[in-house]
Amino acid sequence: MKVLGLETSCDETGLAIFDSEQISDKNNGLVGQVLYSQIALHATYGGVVPELASRDHIRKLVPLFNELLTQCNLTKQDIDAIAFTRGPGLVGALMTGALFGRSLGYALGVPAIGVHHMEGHLLAPLMGAQPPKFPFVCLLVSGGHTQLVATHGIGQYEVLGESIDDAAGECFDKAAKMLKLPYPGGPNIAELAKNGNPNAYVLPRPMLHKGLDFSFSGMKTAIHNLIKDTDGSDNDPEVRADIAASFQHAVVDTLVKKCVKALQQVKMNRLVIAGGVSANLHLREQLALALEKINASVHYAPPALCTDNGAMIAFAGYQRLQAGQTEGLSVSCVPRWDMTELPPLKGTSTCNG
Ligand code: KG4
Ligand code: ZN
Repeated sequence: MKVLGLETSCDETGLAIFDSEQISDKNNGLVGQVLYSQIALHATYGGVVPELASRDHIRKLVPLFNELLTQCNLTKQDIDAIAFTRGPGLVGALMTGALFGRSLGYALGVPAIGVHHMEGHLLAPLMGAQPPKFPFVCLLVSGGHTQLVATHGIGQYEVLGESIDDAAGECFDKAAKMLKLPYPGGPNIAELAKNGNPNAYVLPRPMLHKGLDFSFSGMKTAIHNLIKDTDGSDNDPEVRADIAASFQHAVVDTLVKKCVKALQQVKMNRLVIAGGVSANLHLREQLALALEKINASVHYAPPALCTDNGAMIAFAGYQRLQAGQTEGLSVSCVPRWDMTELPPLKGTSTCNG
């Protein structure tokens, strides 16, 4: 089954085609993908402007769709189903992908399905011939979410802990801004941190010993004070690299310790990390070291499938369509949507690998 995935929940227009019949040891089923980022469009405003985001998705959807078909050497008629992001996200931006996807499905006479953006992230590391088996704990870390989720199967999610304020990605973005680095902050901090000493400065590890919730808002003040004290915002490249490395290490250390705690609490030995921050190499390295000590394994998607993209939506849509879930012709988006409200897919807790 060839599924077209459409991601338009925020400032990225992502389209991809996933083909379940092309999964093999060497192929994760992704036939092709295109991604257009609106970063430059929003840069002058210091954040995403929802109306501009919606208009830009409308401008880009059709040309990107044509580009994708050419890249994949396919025609519209080759598509068997369409999956679009239904929520959570910006309502106008969501509506563009939903309306495009639903009407294209109607025109082609194929099913269309609305996908939960965070379920898309969560399932992305399962794309491929040897997905991690259920159950596992998932650390979902994006620009808007930081959650530890006990995952018993598709749609069987139990939130063990989450951020009570800023998300981890948001924290990276705010720290980057203070260091005068461009958006998105995560990859830019990671790049600067490469030449820095992670132990140069000691930054707080908030709520480390309080259950499985996170709090990252205090990090803002800590890094603000550190930049002020060291004059690290403009000058010495070494100081800046040390600040970035120490900051990254503090966030990563907090995430790693909570993951270990979560695995021990629910007595599971597999961890899946997903969402934009899961692309962070320091996080991957530190998790590998910590999990080895407790005999647990860590699984993640390739970096391009960690941040927002159409492939994860196509893959999540495929899982639900394959289980018989369908939708009518009406289109509705859900800007705020709790992932635990999703219907469970029967049998997935054992069938997927
Ligand atoms: O999942 P995502 O693309 O979008 C949301 O659904 O929010 O995540 C974007 C977030 C941004 O905050 C970005 O700074 C962060 O992921 N991010 C990273 C890295 N790549 C992206 N954070 C740390 N290290 C990275 N390499
Ligand atoms: Zn996302």
